[in-house]
Amino acid sequence: MPVRSALWLGLLLLAALWGSSTPASLLRRLREHIQQLQESSGLGLSPGAVALPKERWLEQPLDPFNASDGRSFLQRYWVNDQYWARQDGPVFLHLGGEGSLGPGSVMTGHPAALAPALGALVIGLEHRFYGLSIPPGGLDVAQLRYLSSRHALADVASARLALSRLFNVSSSSPWICFGGSYAGSLAAWARLKFPHLIFASVASSAPVRAVLDFSEYNEVVSRSLRSTAIGGSRELGACSSLDTVEDQAELLGALQALVGGAVQYDGQAGPPLSVRRLCGLLLGAGGNCSRAAPYHGLRRAAQVFLHSLGQRCLSFSRAEIVAQLRVTDPQVYGVGDRQWLYQTCTEFGFYITCEVPRCPFSQLPALPSHLQLCEQVFGLSTSSIAQAVAQTNSYYGGQTPGATQVLFVNGDTDPWHVLSVTRNLGPSESAILIPSGSHCLDMAPEKPSDSPNLHQGRQNISQQLQTWFRLTKESQVRGVV
Ligand SMILES: *[C@@H]1O[C@H](CO)[C@@H](O)[C@H](O)[C@H]1NC(C)=O
Ligand SMILES: *[C@@H]1O[C@H](CO)[C@@H](O)[C@H](O)[C@H]1NC(C)=O
Ligand SMILES: *[C@@H]1O[C@H](CO)[C@@H](O)[C@H](O)[C@H]1NC(C)=O
Repeated sequence: MPVRSALWLGLLLLAALWGSSTPASLLRRLREHIQQLQESSGLGLSPGAVALPKERWLEQPLDPFNASDGRSFLQRYWVNDQYWARQDGPVFLHLGGEGSLGPGSVMTGHPAALAPALGALVIGLEHRFYGLSIPPGGLDVAQLRYLSSRHALADVASARLALSRLFNVSSSSPWICFGGSYAGSLAAWARLKFPHLIFASVASSAPVRAVLDFSEYNEVVSRSLRSTAIGGSRELGACSSLDTVEDQAELLGALQALVGGAVQYDGQAGPPLSVRRLCGLLLGAGGNCSRAAPYHGLRRAAQVFLHSLGQRCLSFSRAEIVAQLRVTDPQVYGVGDRQWLYQTCTEFGFYITCEVPRCPFSQLPALPSHLQLCEQVFGLSTSSIAQAVAQTNSYYGGQTPGATQVLFVNGDTDPWHVLSVTRNLGPSESAILIPSGSHCLDMAPEKPSDSPNLHQGRQNISQQLQTWFRLTKESQVRGVV
């Protein structure tokens, strides 16, 4: 198995290359990187050179479930009113998720691109405990009790009421929530829990089912790597060499993140490697399947990846990772790794493992290692995590939430689509599955190279919203008559 050993050599090389950040957070860093790049490129290109909207702050209760707790925090948001045609026009509420939000949330990509046609006011709301919306008192465990999706939804409800007053939005204006990934779940749940406040939601790549052991992630990665549509199969299938079996969990986790990241964000502006490019590198130029190609290819892939994320190296020291995650000073943790780990430990799980037969990576014992992190960083037991995941699904309904006027948008290349809603569940619970679409692709700014499928998907989103507006108007008219 020369290819196999060459690959293993490549893995050892990765270990030598990477030394200052955790592989587990590599996907999060990649996401942040893509988001920033898409926002800045979109903002730079916007015609008419509109001034960037300024940062605004909304005072919110720290504990919305305890009326006698008077503490509050400032939640950051942005407003784009340049397309808002009338006081009773629609309001697009773009929800932030497990990272910081920026002015791009109201200026580029969806939903901003939809706003002109519908005359909508666009508001971007950062999630509590991420970015600069961190309550005073830092990130210690006592404080993190106020971080959950349920708190975030309470913020959506109170922001909806406060901002209506502040901007003199008519009571007949439909409010539509948008979000991608975890924030997509929030968008769906906002409509589910507050149908009197939120008219409809567009939930992109929303993993609404919580799951402790997310082994299906790598099943999709495997399928996507074989898919000719995104350039995976032919080249990689020829060598079928990603089958190494070694138990260096952190190291292999990093390789998984590198490959998983290429699949998850395939075809978007910003990721360092597309699937086609990664496969090309692994096989050498021109599909040359020589002994040396995987070794050089993997090294090259790792270099490209780290360089574009501005990282010199990644650490595989568990002790170092735990020490970093224990830091409670928010300044130290820009990307919100500690906060998101807390939410996975107390609500969602989502631990990516390799326990399915088709997983292209080593079957490392990843789940116990993830669970141990919850214990080491927050003192949370494995049984409490499993229970929390089950509770989340019973509270929100998992993949059958029963919410009306929610449009679920997914791409079938995206490993997260298996936790979302990908088929229509009823006349007003609709789903769009974009062929060869990656994670949150529909929310990215439009590019000339966008596939016809993607183009069609975005059109369907707009049409679905207009249909809901029309049906509501018609039933109102009938009600009056
Ligand atoms: C509610 O807030 C009050 C005032 O801060 C506090 O004394 C009480 O313990 C809180 N109740 C709960 C259930 O957290
Ligand atoms: C608020 O909007 C209404 C129309 O919906 C308008 O009559 C009123 O003057 C507005 N008030 C302010 C303060 O803008
Ligand atoms: C494949 O790569 C090897 C080593 O780099 C080289 O010697 C060989 O000529 C290449 N073969 C083809 C068909 O490009």
